[in-house]
Amino acid sequence: MAVMVTGGAGYIGSHTCVELLEAGYDVVVVDNFDNSHPEVLRRVEEITGRTLFREAGDVRDRTFLEQVLRRHKCDAVMHFAGLKSVAESTEKPLHYYDCNVVGTIRLLEAMRSVDVKKIVFSSSATVYGEPEQLPFNEDHRLAPANTYGRSKLVVEDILRDIHRGNKNWQIAILRYFNPVGAHESGLIGEDPKGEPNNLMPLIAQVASGKREKLMIWGNDYPTRDGTGVRDYIHVEDVAKGHVRALKKLDEPQCLALNLGAGHGYSVFEVIKAFETVTGQVIPYEIAERRAGDIAEYYADPTRAKEILNWTAQKTLSEMCQDMWNWQSKNAV
Ligand code: NAD
Ligand code: WQD
Repeated sequence: MAVMVTGGAGYIGSHTCVELLEAGYDVVVVDNFDNSHPEVLRRVEEITGRTLFREAGDVRDRTFLEQVLRRHKCDAVMHFAGLKSVAESTEKPLHYYDCNVVGTIRLLEAMRSVDVKKIVFSSSATVYGEPEQLPFNEDHRLAPANTYGRSKLVVEDILRDIHRGNKNWQIAILRYFNPVGAHESGLIGEDPKGEPNNLMPLIAQVASGKREKLMIWGNDYPTRDGTGVRDYIHVEDVAKGHVRALKKLDEPQCLALNLGAGHGYSVFEVIKAFETVTGQVIPYEIAERRAGDIAEYYADPTRAKEILNWTAQKTLSEMCQDMWNWQSKNAV
């Protein structure tokens, strides 16, 4: 079975390509390399000992996607391609809606025209917005508080409408919480172009000496130690969740599932775990709260357990270990 993986050279996509190849699928990566490098795909091949197909191009190009789907006789699509910075989405809303929403519409049109109806879509816990209750389960109100999150919710709604219109579609919407870590080989990991915004890559950059200190965005939240609490999940667990979801899509349906560990860690707890695992000291400074941040949230992962028989396996220590292994081998 051949799977077209959009954004397959990116952080989560590349780890999922490894899992797909190891599970025996043929993989066709479509990527415009806007936030990644083709070298990643060579490394995916090195890890797995298998080859994959590369198709450089943009998901907004429907004709190109149709050709790729036809040429490789793809049976399913995993759709990772998109833009993911909350801050940038506020500055460039049209760019975000164009890439994330228009790009997905073009992809769905291409799929429809070649009669491929199976898709796994990368959504985000950001679609929930401010918690009404925790943990977030999939029935929580969807009220994203930023442009990026709204672009994800629009795509979710489009997918649900497509399924309402034609029940033959097989759709899995996966809402990731905070994916971190890297492949245990240290060959692939998160390699953001430009300035990272997320906690774990910033901690790793401080540890490697690339950055002098970590700024902690607020220590006066109503949490156990005053810092923000998030549900960190190892990227390899996220990738494994995709293969489980793909297997589940043998029946027509439209599923939305959380991929999270089910518990949260504070910023201080993450720093402590990183220091313990790596022996590095992370200097930090307490700063003002970051605009738009939520104090605390974490997943209820019960539905993914029930439907996919999937649970996150890797611990926070393993996330830190693999992050550091990747950072130390690849720091520039
Ligand atoms: P990433 O930036 O590392 O990967 C995205 C990939 O898509 C990159 O290789 C990029 O070059 C490619 N791409 C972007 N726009 C494209 C386009 N128009 N056409 C073709 N390729 C394009 O990001 P990631 O962290 O791997 O995230 C993957 C998906 O998961 C995204 O949709 C993101 O919104 C979603 N997500 C990520 C997180 C997270 O914390 N990393 C959390 C929840 C959801
Ligand atoms: C985690 C915690 C910060 C950086 C974002 C997106 C979300 C999803 C994952 C895509 C918070 C604190 C951070 C720093 C800090 N991406 N922090 N100093 O904000 O939960 O989620 O990435 O879908 O949509 O919003 O992740 O890693 O940025 O922050 O103190 O330099 O670390 O305040 O409490 P976040 P994060």
